[in-house]
Amino acid sequence: MTDPAGWGEPLYERVLADVPAGSTVLDVGCGPGVFAAFALARGMTVTGLDSSREALSRAERTAPGAVFTIGDAHQLAGSYDVVALVQVLAHLTNPVRALAEAGRVGGRVRATVWGREEESDLRLFGAALEPFLPPRSQRRTPAGPPPLTDPARFRRIAGLAGLEVVGLAEVRSPFRYPDDESLVGPLLASDLGRYAAARAGAEAVREAVLDTFAPRREAGGYVLTNLFRVLDAVARG
Ligand SMILES: C[S@@+](CC[C@H](N)C(=O)[O-])C[C@H]1O[C@@H](n2cnc3c(N)ncnc32)[C@H](O)[C@@H]1O
Repeated sequence: MTDPAGWGEPLYERVLADVPAGSTVLDVGCGPGVFAAFALARGMTVTGLDSSREALSRAERTAPGAVFTIGDAHQLAGSYDVVALVQVLAHLTNPVRALAEAGRVGGRVRATVWGREEESDLRLFGAALEPFLPPRSQRRTPAGPPPLTDPARFRRIAGLAGLEVVGLAEVRSPFRYPDDESLVGPLLASDLGRYAAARAGAEAVREAVLDTFAPRREAGGYVLTNLFRVLDAVARG
């Protein structure tokens, strides 16, 4: 699935809330550098770190004023006013370690995660495909502890990392899809979408998706509202 341009801005605003221009920011798991560019535009000095060379070369093009470095979120170096982990924790083998490292090198830690499935319109993509998928009893369910989308668990993980939670804010971000194709096309191209289309035909899936999203249709296309949580924390002294 491709996320629509601009979806991250309300989230980035919150991550940088009360951070003065001139602050140093370490953007851990910077990906293609969209948050880094946002922070630069607010007058921050930005270092982006990612384990993927491909992501870093995209980030260098997106945010040419930042410094980018290859590295591992589980082992940080240096000293920064703010360490940001934007939509990264769910991708790490050890989020506790990464948050502890962020607290060690950062005066302030700001980390974001998705809200629970039922809190975001993104769930509607799954709901639209549901009739075309095998019964739930036949599907593999992910093993392991509850995800960080559970706010109580997110707080607990931060505590285990030696952080003091200053706040856990909710941010609602509009995802705007200008037309039917921008909504349905990426879904049909996904693994689940291709599975559904192979069983029922692309046209039937397309119609089901558009029916499901009809209540989210507005004059300029579709607007989905998705929820994120932003942790604001400091290392326990
Ligand atoms: C979902 S992307 C988020 C990118 C970016 N922060 C954003 O919001 O657009 C997750 C990023 O984490 C990076 N990543 C995954 N494991 C990592 C690790 N151990 N250390 C550093 N970066 C890592 C991936 O390469 C990817 O760019």
